[in-house]
Formats: sequence, structure tokens, C-alpha cells
Amino acid sequence: MKTNLLIVAVIGFCFVQCTSGKTDLDQAAEVPVEEKITEEFIDNQILSAKAQYKELMKNLPADSMPRTYDSTTGQMINSDTRWWCSGFYPGTLLYLNEFAADNSIKQEALDRLAILEKEKHNATTHDLGFMMYCSFGNADSLTSGSDYSEVLMTSAKSLATRFNSTVGCIRSWDHGPWNYPVIIDNMMNLELLFWATRFSGDSTFYNIAVTHANTTMKNHFREDNSSYHVIDYDQKTGDVIARKTVQGAADSSAWARGQAWGLYGYTVMYRETGDAVYLSQAKKIAAFMLNHPNMPGDNVPYWDYDAPGIPDTYRDASAAAVMASGLLELGLYVDDSLQEVYAKEAAKAVSTLATSEYTAQDGSNGGFILKHSVGSIPHNSEIDVPLTYADYYYVEALLRYKDWYLQ
Ligand code: GLY
Repeated sequence: MKTNLLIVAVIGFCFVQCTSGKTDLDQAAEVPVEEKITEEFIDNQILSAKAQYKELMKNLPADSMPRTYDSTTGQMINSDTRWWCSGFYPGTLLYLNEFAADNSIKQEALDRLAILEKEKHNATTHDLGFMMYCSFGNADSLTSGSDYSEVLMTSAKSLATRFNSTVGCIRSWDHGPWNYPVIIDNMMNLELLFWATRFSGDSTFYNIAVTHANTTMKNHFREDNSSYHVIDYDQKTGDVIARKTVQGAADSSAWARGQAWGLYGYTVMYRETGDAVYLSQAKKIAAFMLNHPNMPGDNVPYWDYDAPGIPDTYRDASAAAVMASGLLELGLYVDDSLQEVYAKEAAKAVSTLATSEYTAQDGSNGGFILKHSVGSIPHNSEIDVPLTYADYYYVEALLRYKDWYLQ
């Protein structure tokens, strides 16, 4: 750990405008944004997150995974294990158990892994990285004495069936009016493939990941280093047919979570390959987000950097959590001064998410940790709600900050 980050004697506050959801929050509320965070602060957030997840556990049917919560009806919204988010709940439980071992949390994680395991054969989705690596990958690295390698290898093989060498990408969706759609989110599924090559020695998985990342770098990014959401390819020639959005404000806009997926994904690419081209790409994405005039001072972005109506529109806590976690890893690979910038910007996002504007009071929010995420505004779906992946990347960011910047 770099020594300049250990000088955390003074907590700095700046005060910024905070608008986290246009429906129920005071647009002009001022909240403190800490640029450096302490061990005690992180421990308190994680202990409170653990208490929340013990609430959530109580209300979750044995065959389901939590997706979100409807505060108007008080209903949990759950999914079966085919949903792209099915790995985040067990993954979060494993992170919480890593922080402080807890038998009931660990047993709940193991029970959910048992119902998730069958998805290792699911070749109908590109989201197997999210589903199986955030869950079984965490279990493999965090649970001593367990062996999840067969589940992870089978999952990687299923994911690899979706690769088309003419296009040079893993196909995202099988539905919709597309020829061969690839979404920026798919960068997050590559980590599983690197694990598979490390474990098996078979470079096929590594090569698929690198080819996918290179094709995406070529076709998904604009001059300003923002990314399109969807590229539709001609699967016979590999040519780009169209550049579109499905979850963003416009084809030409910068959907906030998509930018965060790109940042995190290219940071993983650099970690796994050591190729400086990916480090450069991740830094460019970080600069796009952090310097964007529409990025609020507290680093919780609006749902799209080009959303109509800013500042009178929704923030996306999930985009902030993914960005913060990605920045914290990227900070490990850059020089000291840039590392300090990334750590400070990540700390701003994390400390904003830790305020009562975003963190649910114990016993509320259906047991989810964070409020105010956005699934998809164009689909009028999951707007200003808790989401399981916001919780996952928030807990990950807290642990990363503690493990990497405070030890
Ligand atoms: N991968 C889907 C999303 O980020 O909403």
C-alpha cells in the first residue's frame, strides 16, 4: 500500500448539492462528502449492511434471489436463478462473511450457491460472469477448504460458446431485433474467462477475453472516451451495423452504469494481461466520468450523463458503486498522484452512498443496503429503487478501500 494513502489523520469535508432522486429528496439538500474515509467508518457501514442482509434473508423464499423492493407496497421483488443478477446476493453475503465470519450469513450464501449452480450450463446468457464469478468466484477465493473449480470451469465453457470469431465478441442478447448485439456491460463477464485459463492452462478462454476487449475498444468508444451501450454487428462479416442504446437516454448519450462497467472491465483487463493499452483505456474512461460537467460534486452520477432534465432527474447509486470499486482497483496501477485522485474520488462516492440519503435505515428498504438506483428508465423499470448489484459493488468498494488504502 502506498504510504501517501496512510496519512488519513484528518477527514476533509466539502459540501455539495445532493439530489439523489427527484421524487422524494430535497433537491437542494447539502450533505457532507468525505474525501478520505477511516477504518471505523467502513466497519460501521459493513456492520450495518450485515444487519440489513439478516433482515433480507428472513423474507426471501428458498428458491429465489433478491432483485429489488417496492417501498409503496412493502413487497420484495425476487427472481429465479436465470436472472442476470442472481450471483450478487450470494456474492455480497460472502463479502460480508469475509469481513467478519458469521455462520448464518455463510450458511445463507452456501444455500443460495446450491440453487444457483445449475446456471453453469446456461449458454443462453452472456451474463455468466456476473452470475457465476461474483458468486462462485468469491466462494472459491474466500471460502477455505471449498472447491468450486468445476462450477467455474463449466460456466466459462458455457460462456465461451457465445463467442463468434468473425465478430470477435461474445454475443450479448438472443432476443430483440438485432443481428449480433454486444453491450458494454459484457466487459464484466470476462474475468471468469481469465480465471478459467489460469485454472486449466487452456489459453482459449484468455484469447476470447482479449479479443472481445479489443473489438469492444475499437467499436464501442467515442472520441470523448464515453461508450455506446449496444453495438450491433453483422455476424457474417463482423461489420458494425448500428450503434444504439437500450437503457440510456439516447443512442449518442453516455448511460452512467455503462460507463462504469467499461471502467471496471478495462481495469480487470489490465490486471489480467498487464497490457498497458487497457490501463490507458481505463484511465480515459475514468477521466471522462470524473471531469464530466454533469457529474455531481458528490460523485453519484445521474442515470445518464446526458439525461434530459439534469439536475431534476434521478441519480443512480449502482453506477456510483461500480465506479467507486473500479476506481479503487485502477488506483493500484497508476502513479502516486493519480492514485490519490482516484482514491479521493472513490471515497467521495462511497461516503455519499453511506449517508442516510442513500443508505437505508436498519430494518427498512426490504433489507437492501442502498436506496436510489436506476435499472432502466426507457423501460420504466426499477426507477429509484434498491438493486442487488448496487449493494454488491458498494460492499466490494468498502472492503477494497479498507484492504488496499487503509492497511
Ligand atoms: N447489465 C444490465 C444493466 O447494467 O442494467
